[in-house]
Order: sequence, then structure tokens, then C-alpha cells
Amino acid sequence: SPFDAAFHASAERHERFWIFGVLVMLVLLTIGTMFYVVHDYGLVTGTQSYATDPQAPAREAAFQDGKVVRTGPNSYAVYMVGRAWHWAPDVIHVPEGAEITFYVTSADVLHGFEIQGTPVNLTAMPGVVGTVKYTFRHAGLFRIICNEYCGMFHHAMVARIIVDP
Ligand code: CUA
Repeated sequence: SPFDAAFHASAERHERFWIFGVLVMLVLLTIGTMFYVVHDYGLVTGTQSYATDPQAPAREAAFQDGKVVRTGPNSYAVYMVGRAWHWAPDVIHVPEGAEITFYVTSADVLHGFEIQGTPVNLTAMPGVVGTVKYTFRHAGLFRIICNEYCGMFHHAMVARIIVDP
């Protein structure tokens, strides 16, 4: 009947509209997620593996306590080792507005290297050096926490970054 035909045409329009709408939402969600991962989570620029000797990176001179190395007029490298249950170094000073490259490894188990209030978040793994760049735009105190459960004092695994004006 004509009524049925009209009904089906209308139903098909609605169906096409919603299929299209859902596809658009999926595309936007994907683009949005990628944007968030790349621009908000900090760029993990590289990892280096030492598969034959997982303790090797943590033993390297650069990873001994207190390493903040000036690498250019406005850039610094920070070498950070996670151990159950502390970060070394546990207090660092960096200047506001400088590009900081963090080199992160673990001397024992997996730890989660997260700088609160920033997008920096990567996993500290034995035998692997993870790299992430970040620029602190404001002076102040930032805490590095461990966001990967690593045992009894996981919650106490906190270091401080003091960003000097
Ligand atoms: Cu280290 Cu949790």
C-alpha cells in the first residue's frame, strides 16, 4: 500500500541518518583519542632495550642519583630510576619553560612514572629506558607518583620536581 511505501522510505532515511551519525561519532572519537594520546600524554619519543641484562640501564652512570644534565641553552635531561619503593633522584630542580627530556628505567619491577598535573605518564621497566619530553610552563611543586602497583609501599613511592621561576 502507499502508506507502507511511505513508511519504509521514511524508515530508511532514519536508518541512513543514524548509520551515518554513528560513523561520524566513531571517527571523531578516534581522532579525539589520538589527539589526546599524542598531545596530552606527552610524546614517548623512544625506548631502548637491554634484553640481555635488565639491570644494565640502572647501573649506568647517567642513572646514578641526582642526575639532571643540562643539554642545551634551554634543555635538560633527567635520568630517573624506579626501585621498590622510591624514585631516584627523589628531588630535582628544573627551570620553568625549559624542555626536559626524562629518561626512565627501573632497577627491579614495573613502576608507573606519572607526573601529577601533567600529561607525563609512562611505565618504568627493567632493561628498558623510556623517553618522554615535557616543558613545565609554571613554576611550582610537581609530584612524581608510581601508578603501577609494585608492592607494600607502592603508595609511598613519591618524588618531587621543583620547577624554579
Ligand atoms: Cu612503584 Cu608502585
